[in-house]
Amino acid sequence: MHGSILVLAPEGRDAEVIGSVLAEIGLATQPCADLPELCRSLGDDVGALMLSEGVLTDIEPLTAWLEAQPRWSDLPIVILTSRRSRQAGRGRQAFFQSLGNVTLLDRPLHREALQSAAQAALRSRERQYRTRSHLQEITQASSRLEERVAERTQALQAEMADRRRAEEQLHQAQKMEALGQLTGGVAHDFNNLLQGIVSCLAVLAPTVPDGTPRELFEAANRSIERGARLTQSLLSFARRQTLMPEPTDLGDLLTGMSSLLERSLGGQISVTIQVPPGLPAALIDRAQLESAILNLAINARDAMPCGGRLSLTASVAEIGDGETGSSAAVPAELRPGTYVAIRVADTGTGIDPSVLPHVFEPFFTTKPLDKGSGLGLSMVQGMATQSGGGVHIDSTLGGGTAITLYLPSVAAVAGRPAGTAADVERGEGRTVLLVEDDAIVRMGTMALLESQGHHVIEAESGETALALLQDGAEIDALVTDFAMPGMNGAEVVRAVRTLRPGLPALIVTGYADTPDLGEAVRLLRKPFSPNQIAEQLAAMLAE
Ligand SMILES: Nc1ncnc2c1ncn2[C@@H]1O[C@H](COP(=O)(O)OP(=O)(O)OP(=O)(O)O)[C@@H](O)[C@H]1O
Ligand SMILES: [Mg+2]
Repeated sequence: MHGSILVLAPEGRDAEVIGSVLAEIGLATQPCADLPELCRSLGDDVGALMLSEGVLTDIEPLTAWLEAQPRWSDLPIVILTSRRSRQAGRGRQAFFQSLGNVTLLDRPLHREALQSAAQAALRSRERQYRTRSHLQEITQASSRLEERVAERTQALQAEMADRRRAEEQLHQAQKMEALGQLTGGVAHDFNNLLQGIVSCLAVLAPTVPDGTPRELFEAANRSIERGARLTQSLLSFARRQTLMPEPTDLGDLLTGMSSLLERSLGGQISVTIQVPPGLPAALIDRAQLESAILNLAINARDAMPCGGRLSLTASVAEIGDGETGSSAAVPAELRPGTYVAIRVADTGTGIDPSVLPHVFEPFFTTKPLDKGSGLGLSMVQGMATQSGGGVHIDSTLGGGTAITLYLPSVAAVAGRPAGTAADVERGEGRTVLLVEDDAIVRMGTMALLESQGHHVIEAESGETALALLQDGAEIDALVTDFAMPGMNGAEVVRAVRTLRPGLPALIVTGYADTPDLGEAVRLLRKPFSPNQIAEQLAAMLAE
């Protein structure tokens, strides 16, 4: 497997003789005419050199090649010398050694000596080839190892990034959950306070004289309205709002809002509304959806101080099995199914990537103190999620913002006439059992109902209410709070109806977690206005 031997021995028939002597033992030689030809033939596959001493002048190219050999290579050189010249000087010896792997062979040449020197040279070259292939194997193995290390490192980094993302999402979800609970609790209590004030003021209203007292009275009412809107936003963010979903035609809803939107946005912003024909209805609380869209439009207006375009586009969104959770383009909370989507897109400033993760947090705002409370988007998201849908935001700094609301769809719109705001109707002297644990709210509601002409029996708990009924109290309707220690409103309705089947019942609640009762029970959001409770009671009693 060894290479051939390059022979440079120009004296007489030396080269020819050497070739035939080495051929006897199966060794191949390649005679060269001069040193340049020899240098041209040099390469890794050359097994050894056999040179006569006389040619070693101007050997620069040869030494350059020898010095440039790779680490495994040390080309064996057999130099044919004469004893006389060897004795001639030590300097010549040192010169030979400088050529590296040199063997000196004295002339006159003996066959055996020549053959064994050539064999020894080729054996040494053979060992070098083995070293070369080991080195190659090691290099290949180490580059394979490096590749695998790089692949594994990349996989690990991806895993770590995934984990970090999952942890961040979990952390964010936990934070929002904790915030939601806190906010929901605070808002619920505030609703009770507001309800107490609303009811008491409503009863006092007819007694307030005109002039300054009435102005102050109206101012107090306006503050209450603002307070009520605030608590609604908080409850909405906390997903604890009392939603009253109904099949809603989005075409109707959006076109119905167009003049309100144009008025709210001012003249510099053009509004376009696109709703495809045959769009399925959405199962959604109409009033809450309107307020969500208005919030989004106002955000868009704030982002387009010099004017721009706002487009509202409705469409059907089919969310497949694989899309939820993983895809960044779909809200993680969406279950597979058919949704009706409303995309609200503006050509405004867009949102900085560092701000984007926070925009749904309650009280997060980049606006001045008097302009933004930071509740708009958190409320929109709470409403959408609580309704069984979700929200997706897409924004690039300088490139505008698009927010898509995914709303659950229903196959058909159950035509329902829009409710008209009824004037306060006077009750017809009916008896209402009022169950409310908060003494001030109870007092206020009672006074309100009485001012509307009803007779009221009060109870501070479900248990007391049942005891009253068992004692034979005669009533025409039940109005109960939902969240109470002991029995909750739903349980009160159920228990009362075992004693008085079919009794008209109204649950007043500031919370969303009213269970589906499977029976006719009306719901009223706190804080309610005198009109709202009068309307509900009149409708219940008329059924
Ligand atoms: N369309 C939009 N374009 C650019 N930035 C937006 C847009 N919508 C929301 N933002 C950013 O998200 C933040 C939070 O919005 P969010 O509606 O929750 O609160 P707000 O508008 O600041 O206050 P609020 O709605 O309570 O009056 C905004 O302050 C703003 O920085
Ligand atoms: Mg806003």
